[in-house]
This record gives sequence, structure tokens and C-alpha cells, in this order.
Amino acid sequence: MMSRLLITGKNGQLGSELQDLQHNYPQYEMIFVDREEMDLSNSEQILKVLNDQKPGIIINTGAYTAVDKAETEQELCDLINHKAVKTMGEWAAKSNAKIIHISTDYVFNGTSEIPLKETDATDPINVYGLTKLKGEQVLQTSGAAYVIIRTAWVYSTYGANFVKTMMRLMNERDEIGVVADQVGTPTYARDLAQVIMDVVVADAFTQGIYHYSNEGKISWYDFAAAIKEIKGYKTKINAISSDAFPTPANRPNFSLLDKTKIKTTFNVSVPYWKDSLEEMLTKL
Ligand SMILES: NC(=O)c1ccc[n+]([C@@H]2O[C@H](COP(=O)([O-])OP(=O)(O)OC[C@H]3O[C@@H](n4cnc5c(N)ncnc54)[C@H](OP(=O)(O)O)[C@@H]3O)[C@@H](O)[C@H]2O)c1
Repeated sequence: MMSRLLITGKNGQLGSELQDLQHNYPQYEMIFVDREEMDLSNSEQILKVLNDQKPGIIINTGAYTAVDKAETEQELCDLINHKAVKTMGEWAAKSNAKIIHISTDYVFNGTSEIPLKETDATDPINVYGLTKLKGEQVLQTSGAAYVIIRTAWVYSTYGANFVKTMMRLMNERDEIGVVADQVGTPTYARDLAQVIMDVVVADAFTQGIYHYSNEGKISWYDFAAAIKEIKGYKTKINAISSDAFPTPANRPNFSLLDKTKIKTTFNVSVPYWKDSLEEMLTKL
């Protein structure tokens, strides 16, 4: 049934934002599933749920997103970000269903100096990025009609994210250090959820990979400084380099996504990052 949507990652940032938009789309039956209802590391359970629900469109927001932990949990991360996508893609191909899948800027190595296009060469530098890339690849060869949206730096009023971490630290400390040599653009999950629904309702399901984040170009330091300014914190923020903040997983230094393709294909509007941040902080 084309009007039945099955959404994974029910309680994640993006899944929660999609739940909030649900009331605007009464023409669709939106079925949200969490880890209990459909464990993405269990292909039999995935197939059982899909065969029971028979969605016309699968929206896969569920993922293994613990980027640092992934370095030591490679197998589980691969099951969720890669194998599960293969299972869903193959089911969709057989069942004439569509799939909207979310991927990441971490499929790139971060050495570019100009906004990344969908056609640019991928070269993940951590386990999470590699499993997400494999997920894209198996979906593209599955035979299913697919839209893959690569996004970056996702935050929301729901779940755990950089904005909430910064607020906690700025409440607790007089001084913090934030990485200033990684640049990109944040993505308010609410805006991305809206774009996903724009794709769902579009006249044509134009298959392909698309890039989406908010508009603008900043570093994590700039992002923290904006949170401080909007919330009126007094904490001193020191700009530090990635070298001074070692993490188990490498992170790309450059994550800026070129959004031209999604804007022209689906006619979506892309809010400026600071406007969306203000909106989120007001809602929080
Ligand atoms: N967050 C970012 O900065 C970022 C950046 C680029 C791309 N992305 C991509 O954007 C998408 C949405 O991310 P998000 O920020 O909404 O992630 P999130 O808040 O971490 O949510 C991920 C969801 O996946 C679920 N999940 C994890 N393992 C599962 C399993 N074995 N079976 C079923 N569900 C499972 C989680 O369930 P539980 O609630 O039970 O843990 C959670 O609901 C993902 O594809 C992610 O890779 C995210």
C-alpha cells in the first residue's frame, strides 16, 4: 500500500521529529517502529515486520550512530548500518516499495575544500562511515526505488546531541574547549524530517543520492559560540584543534554539503543554520 509508511528509529532524533509532523499528513498511515518492534540487527525480524505491514515506503532513520563505539563494535555497526539496509532494499525491490534512507557526510574523508557534491569520491575514515557507505551501496544495487539523503551534524530537541551537551557544559563550567578546525553545517532534525516528507509527497520519486544540511558554513567552535550567545551563557569558549581532542574514531575536517541537487529536484527550502538553532532553542 503506497499510503502506508514504515519508519524505523522511532525514538531517535529524526524519528521523533517525523512523529511530530505526522498530523500534517493524514493521507498517510505512518507506522513507527523501535528497536523492540523491529531490531535492525535481526534480518528475520525485519522481514517479518515488512511482510506483516507491507509498507509502500520505508523511511529508514534507524542506525548505529555511536561513532566512537563503532570502532570496537564493528560487527554490530555493520549489521545495522549495512546488512539491515540490504534486507530492506531487497524486500522493497520484490514488493515494489520505495525506500528513503539516511546517510552521512562521514562517507567522505574531509580533505575537500569546496562543498561536497553527491558525485564526489567517497573515502570513509572511520568504521561508522564505512558501514554507512556500504549501506548506500547495497541499497543502490538492490533494485528498489531509493532516495538516499546524506546529512551532517544532526541535532534536535529530542535525543542526545552537540547542542544539549554544550548547554550542559556551559551550565557546569566557566571555561570549555571546542574544536575549531572541523567545518560544516549543522542540521536541525526537524528541517530534515520536513524534507523527507517533501520527498514522500513529491509528484515524482526521483531516485538518487542527495545532500542535505542547513545553510551556511561554520566550525563546532562557531556552533558553540552561537549557543552561548543565544542562551546568554557566560562560559569562556576556547578554540582548540582536533589534535587536542583525541577520539577513538577519526572525524573529517570538512563536511560542508552542496545542497543544489535536492533543492532543484524536490524544490525544498533550506533554512539558515542559525535560524534553525534559534527555533530549536526556543522550543527546548
Ligand atoms: N546524528 C548525527 O549527527 C548524524 C549525522 C549524519 C547522519 N546521520 C544519520 O541520520 C540518521 C538519523 O540519525 P539520528 O540523529 O536520528 O540518530 P539517533 O538519534 O541516534 O537515532 C538512531 C535510532 O536508531 C535506533 N537503533 C539503533 N540500533 C537499532 C537496532 N539494532 N534496531 C532498531 N533500531 C535501532 C535507535 O534506537 P534506540 O533509541 O533504541 O537506541 C534510535 O532510535 C541515521 O541514519 C544517522 O546515521 C546522523
